[in-house]
Amino acid sequence: MWRKEFVMIKVAFFDTKPYDRAAFEAACPEDMKIKFFETKLNADTADLAHGYDAACVFVNDTVDAAALDALEAGGVRLVALRCAGYNNVDVRHAFGHIHVVRVPAYSPYAVAEHAMAMLLTSVRRVHKAYNRTRDFNFSLNGLVGFDLYGKTVGVIGTGKIGRTFAAICRGFGMRVLGYDKYPAEDAGIEYVSLDTLFAESDIISLHCPLTEETKYLICKENIAKMKKGVVIVNTSRGALIRSEDLLEGIKERKIGAACLDVYEEESDIFFEDNSGHILEDDTLARLISMPNVLVTSHQAFLTEEALSGIAGTTVENIRTFFATGACENELCYRCG
Ligand code: NAI
Repeated sequence: MWRKEFVMIKVAFFDTKPYDRAAFEAACPEDMKIKFFETKLNADTADLAHGYDAACVFVNDTVDAAALDALEAGGVRLVALRCAGYNNVDVRHAFGHIHVVRVPAYSPYAVAEHAMAMLLTSVRRVHKAYNRTRDFNFSLNGLVGFDLYGKTVGVIGTGKIGRTFAAICRGFGMRVLGYDKYPAEDAGIEYVSLDTLFAESDIISLHCPLTEETKYLICKENIAKMKKGVVIVNTSRGALIRSEDLLEGIKERKIGAACLDVYEEESDIFFEDNSGHILEDDTLARLISMPNVLVTSHQAFLTEEALSGIAGTTVENIRTFFATGACENELCYRCG
């Protein structure tokens, strides 16, 4: 079923942005031909990949059962995620039909540093100051922040990115608490229960994957357990937070600030220029209108180092799969 001789591997690349194209054109080997489609992959667009060997997808492509069936019918044998998270892929349905590979690691620094960039921007009101001084408004009123030094940060999910973020926080002289379903012995992190983390953290940063278990981890019930004035940072996946409850917590002054690089309903909004349109999502519009909410458009991964790492690993995943029929970065819901 896999290729032993030199044959061109044809890849249909969905949801292409100029920065993807530049990185993948630089990484594309001679035995691979990539067709770049701007559209996202879903059941309606999967036919575009007919006749291709692999479909390369990103975080907001919808790789559900219907899309996978359509890809398989068109001869696609591999879905290559150019990201780490895979909550948008029905891996269970893919099993036995289409192989799925991902990029498990590519500069955890990119995401962890963005989390810290958002946190600093928010607590020191840099976003406010930037706008003011551009208008020659040099007033400091309303810009009082707080020191990160000495504060407690709760890191939920202490994998590659969570640990990198924890290390950055330690550099600021912060106390780091961690919660992970599978705590790592060698992480050097003080693990506590989720309830203790909620109760003691001045800042909570999310770095766990989106699963059935973690969906809406930040909800009304858990927000009630947090300190008044807590800052919530989410650079992981939007649906870790129930946005309505976050908004309520902000309106009640329980949540001091929110830094959101991801949003639960981002797929039709983020990555696109919607500046000429009326935003239909009232919750997002209200969140963005809040002075203590900072939103970036799923940008945490966007560094030169990460883009080139993503392209290199994705290309290697595809080549390895078609050369050997296997790949160490393959996802398998049965493999744990
Ligand atoms: P990782 O796999 O190295 O770490 C994830 C950690 O979460 C692991 O330690 C795991 O044990 C833990 N975990 C799993 N289930 C959990 C649960 N129920 N409760 C608490 N912890 C749990 O992943 P990595 O590379 O650190 O990435 C973390 C997340 O960051 C990804 O899942 C992805 O959603 C997100 N991400 C966001 C990006 C962005 O641009 N905003 C870019 C890359 C990743």
